[in-house]
Amino acid sequence: MDGIDSMAIYPGSFDPVTCGHMDMIHRARKVFPRLVVAVAINIRKKAMFTVDERVDMLNEVLCDQQGVEVDSFSGLLVDYAKLRGANIVVRGLRALSDFENEFQMAHMNRRLAPNLETFFMMTGQDHFYVSSQTVKEVAYFDGDISGLVPDVVLRRLRAKNGQSPV
Ligand code: PNS
Repeated sequence: MDGIDSMAIYPGSFDPVTCGHMDMIHRARKVFPRLVVAVAINIRKKAMFTVDERVDMLNEVLCDQQGVEVDSFSGLLVDYAKLRGANIVVRGLRALSDFENEFQMAHMNRRLAPNLETFFMMTGQDHFYVSSQTVKEVAYFDGDISGLVPDVVLRRLRAKNGQSPV
């Protein structure tokens, strides 16, 4: 199956899921009827949450989203896409700084799997500065991250950091 009828995969570390990711998911879902949000291991990043914890949080915040499935995989994204029969990968671009890495990944993935297309969407204007990394850092020092992550994530971050519940 080709084009917008096919299943798309939105892969990422989601460590943890932010409101920027949520915005991307909602918008991508308007384009693709079936969207798999796939938690992956990024060997370049040290994770705070286990894959299971990240999947749990995503399931909680996406439970009412029709057409959205949460999954996880290890290994190469191209192999996972093949396994799922998907030919589209969705990625978000926040700023120019994302471009270089995304450009390399998209080309490497295309080399490995010529039929796998990467579909880029610009992050919403309210979220271009939000990343899992900055959110974790602000949360660690007890800064205010309300509105930047879903409430369930806020609670899990506070628990992870040994802070009292809000
Ligand atoms: O949210 P992130 O950390 O930017 O997501 C990056 C991710 C997980 C999508 C990327 O590291 C990935 O696809 N990992 C799976 C392994 C793989 O296929 N690596 C080759 C990419 S060039």
